[in-house]
Amino acid sequence: MAKNKIDLATLNWEEFYKSPLEQRIKFFSKEGRLFDCLFSQQFPRKLMEKLFEIATRIRGIAKSKEGLDWLQTLLSHKRSMLYFVQPSTRTFVSFQSACHILGMKVSEIRSTSTSSELKGESAEDTIRTFSSYADLIIMRHFQEGMVEKSAWLLNSTPRPVRVINGGSGKDQHPTQALLDMYTLHFSFSKFGGIDNKTIMMVGDLKRGRTVRSLSYLLKNYKGVKIIYVSPEYLRIEDDIKKFLKKYRISFVESDDLVGNLKAADAVYMTRIQDEHDINNETKDMDFSNFHLRKEHLRLMKKNSIIMHPLPRRLEIDVEIDKDPRAMYWREERNGMWIRTALIAYMFGMEDTIFNFN
Ligand code: CP
Repeated sequence: MAKNKIDLATLNWEEFYKSPLEQRIKFFSKEGRLFDCLFSQQFPRKLMEKLFEIATRIRGIAKSKEGLDWLQTLLSHKRSMLYFVQPSTRTFVSFQSACHILGMKVSEIRSTSTSSELKGESAEDTIRTFSSYADLIIMRHFQEGMVEKSAWLLNSTPRPVRVINGGSGKDQHPTQALLDMYTLHFSFSKFGGIDNKTIMMVGDLKRGRTVRSLSYLLKNYKGVKIIYVSPEYLRIEDDIKKFLKKYRISFVESDDLVGNLKAADAVYMTRIQDEHDINNETKDMDFSNFHLRKEHLRLMKKNSIIMHPLPRRLEIDVEIDKDPRAMYWREERNGMWIRTALIAYMFGMEDTIFNFN
């Protein structure tokens, strides 16, 4: 491992980025602990389930004023920087809330038009500047690889502060996948857990980073089947299919939402990511066959759940919100708790949290 680390440390960014992910992942851990959170592939089942436990413990402690006041002492000596240069509501606010729950002081930049990037400063220098003021940088960026590059850059400076990926281009959104898994874990706790469940993912699978990150995490469970439902043009990319084949995860592709509903334990709806269109190619496409409507509910299993990373457009009828299987609003709240747990874990606070009484 030491040899790999030394070799990786000598590479420039382009060489590093071309290295196999399994090698790069090691570069983002320190002393056996996750230092930067960049990809879903950094979370084996044991670590993911530990985060679920920490999140559940924290949400229990936070129910009382005394508990919440105590949680706010844990990282009151730390500062975080929320650098979100792509639109966000949930990820931004839930991370901000997570930092507040742990007592961290939070700074934010939400657009390159309000930072010195407008004056020609590079994104790399901008990140390095944040590390002068913060102990943790949480980033959302429009460019694939930029969050990893930032973590890589900081890890080779005298002040290697932690970096969390809050969504990077079309590539990954690992903390969304963690909250999705936490929601699945909770929802199926009385029904045999996530093992052997069938997860259907619907919509823009080609450009949806939440679907990609979730697919990676499902590798941690036995007997899981995935049904990918999308228009032909928006099918899941080959790199994900290659990953699933490598780990012998069963999947099928289809364009038939209604026909597959009865098989699904979880239906994960997503919106069309038309911000990634190059020539308005999806503008005139009809996506109505990929919308979940009230009349479809009777086709679904009684104990199944409906998920959505949100924001939604027409993918789920608002009338469905009242159905007990609708989990997307709970997902939002689960996101705050799992992100709190992740930050607490990254700063080594879990034993303190478990010892609270
Ligand atoms: N799910 C999600 O990432 O939502 P936001 O874009 O609002 O953060």
